[in-house]
Amino acid sequence: MAKKLFIQTYGCQMNVYDSARMADVLTPLGYAACDTPSAADMVILNTCHIREKAAEKVYSELGRLRLLKDGRREAGDDMVIAVAGCVAQAEGAEIMRRAPYVDIVFGPQSYHRLPEMVARATRASASSKRGVLDTDFPVESKFDHLPDDSAARGPSAFLTVQEGCDKFCTFCVVPYTRGAEFSRPVADIEAEARRLVEGGAREITLLGQNVNAYHGPDEAGDTTSLAALLRRLARVDGLERLRYTTSHPLEMQDDLIDVHGSEDKVMPYLHLPVQSGSDRILEAMNRRHRASDYLAIIEKLRRARPDIALSGDFIVGFPGETDADFNDTLSLVRAVNYTQAYSFKYSARPGTPAAELADTVPGDVKADRLAALQTVLDGQQQAFNRACTGRDMPVLLDRAGRRPGQLVGRSPYMQAVFVEAPESRLGTVASVRIVDGHANSLAGVLDTAAAA
Ligand code: SAH
Ligand code: SF4
Ligand code: F3S
Repeated sequence: MAKKLFIQTYGCQMNVYDSARMADVLTPLGYAACDTPSAADMVILNTCHIREKAAEKVYSELGRLRLLKDGRREAGDDMVIAVAGCVAQAEGAEIMRRAPYVDIVFGPQSYHRLPEMVARATRASASSKRGVLDTDFPVESKFDHLPDDSAARGPSAFLTVQEGCDKFCTFCVVPYTRGAEFSRPVADIEAEARRLVEGGAREITLLGQNVNAYHGPDEAGDTTSLAALLRRLARVDGLERLRYTTSHPLEMQDDLIDVHGSEDKVMPYLHLPVQSGSDRILEAMNRRHRASDYLAIIEKLRRARPDIALSGDFIVGFPGETDADFNDTLSLVRAVNYTQAYSFKYSARPGTPAAELADTVPGDVKADRLAALQTVLDGQQQAFNRACTGRDMPVLLDRAGRRPGQLVGRSPYMQAVFVEAPESRLGTVASVRIVDGHANSLAGVLDTAAAA
């Protein structure tokens, strides 16, 4: 009988990719996806450890799941609760202690072993039950043990090409939760891309915590750059769009910048986090470049692809950040002119070098700086969206809208575009006339003349 699986995903796109692959691993065991935890035989929380708030969510969600599990047990049934992802990796044993009703805890690099973990967790009788913990960084790569099948992941799909990080920014947990940098072989990536396209994908976003550090081997064993990988994937028939995220400024080599000018399938959009515009803070963060280096990269990108849209990540209130440092961040933001961005208050993470520093910036100052920064960033985003009014754009219609008869898609610049369109257009790139630009999205109409 089919068993029901519910996966709740937190954090970055790499977790979204991992969740899809966990479902692939569990399909042969008879698990099929369902929409609510209350209907599920197994619930996986795929967690994020990047900021304190993200990690806290796990325990409150586990409290709710415990009630569901108790209810199922009273009815003579059971529910498997599993915690995956970066919180599992960072504090697996503590989860087992604080929430002993959790059946399985496993990290981001070991989920290919899920079938045996599930067997162990369900075999044990309810009374003798001990949780299963697997937060190894196995010597074998999970990618070599995942099923090939990559069930249809929709018109816009994620594909992990690189994992882990050796950069050790002083504020960040990723090097500890995801482990050392690792690049998948080119042939494996191309094969997965072809399967995704056969399943209906028109756009693929290559993922990695440090994706532009990609250096996987090709068939001859030669090291391949991300630029070369993109050029190779651009030749896959039926694939119309390529993106990649997230990049580090240090790895933004000239060949990668050039790809933005030479490959039409590489979309004119780049997420390139800088975190701060102050050289002093960049150094304390161990980012290993100056603000001027970042601006020089942006200039080169714009030379290669004048319409490229830029996005970034920012942290305000890093230990020791002064008003002058923060003003340097505002100046950098004004110089770049982002079309979208993410900004966060610094959150001290256990085990990172920055957590040893005194958290010198008071909470209210952090809040004021975040609000000031977001005002500037939101203004830039709105101005860009408004300026798109009247333009025709190719839009990949990748999901149904909330209203009947409405589809939602992505512009080349990553904006969400709402369009009245028949369902038959789902999964296609349509020519759309933009009629309105809002704070977070665009409204458009199908360019029927172009579509006919
Ligand atoms: N690999 C990516 C980012 C990974 S985390 C990169 O190198 O840019 C995503 C974002 O979360 C980071 O860019 C940073 O802005 C933010 N972040 C990471 N650690 C944080 C912390 N301790 N406090 C606040 N924000 C943090
Ligand atoms: Fe974290 Fe820095 Fe690595 Fe990005 S580059 S994942 S911010 S350590
Ligand atoms: Fe979060 Fe882990 Fe991604 S900490 S941002 S889920 S790599």
